[in-house]
Amino acid sequence: MNEFMLTEINTERCLLRPWRVEDIPLVPPLADTRDISWNTSFRFPYPYDEEAAKNMIHWSRDGAGENKWQFAVFSDEELAGGCGAIRGSGVETHTATVGYWLGTAWWGKGLATEIVAALVRYMREETDVEQLTASCFGWNPASRRVLEKTGFAHEGMRRGVVRKWGKTTDLWIYGRPL
Ligand SMILES: CC(C)(COP(=O)(O)OP(=O)(O)OC[C@H]1O[C@@H](n2cnc3c(N)ncnc32)[C@H](O)[C@@H]1OP(=O)(O)O)[C@@H](O)C(=O)NCCC(=O)NCCS
Repeated sequence: MNEFMLTEINTERCLLRPWRVEDIPLVPPLADTRDISWNTSFRFPYPYDEEAAKNMIHWSRDGAGENKWQFAVFSDEELAGGCGAIRGSGVETHTATVGYWLGTAWWGKGLATEIVAALVRYMREETDVEQLTASCFGWNPASRRVLEKTGFAHEGMRRGVVRKWGKTTDLWIYGRPL
């Protein structure tokens, strides 16, 4: 087994560990809401069924520990969400893009800040990645705040490049060295 699959990251309130196949049925009850999909790429669909969870978990395990570091997030022993990083390609191979989401019941408690800070630390200490990137939709101030609180700087905007469910907004680009 790939050593990455044994990773466990403990934060004050959460455990982050790579996704497992047995997590598949746990994901839709948490992820099947417009509130999450509204702020994420089409990789995070709505409705979100077991097929979507299966696809996500199999995707997360392909290249895990080399080009992808994707974690299920547990709090109080319950699945609370997910976070992770994906290595860039070509001239961006030394970088990775981070992403994160939580079930709505877990919002507003500082958990995203806690898990993104832990992810940043992990990427710095355990991988060869030198720089992190992130992007948020214009209508997602909470996510921008999470990035600011975890040491990311606002690097620019791609105007009007996001269109979801008929609405258009800017993509805010963030970055931080490791
Ligand atoms: C974005 C998300 C991860 C935030 O999770 P969270 O655990 O609630 O975040 P935190 O509590 O750590 O921090 C949120 C910060 O945003 C602030 N915030 C929340 N709503 C806000 C709003 N409408 N306007 C401005 N700031 C806002 C909070 O006050 C907090 O900042 P503070 O600590 O300075 O007060 C969560 O809402 C989510 O999963 N959303 C859907 C998926 C998503 O957006 N993923 C990120 C894609 S880029």
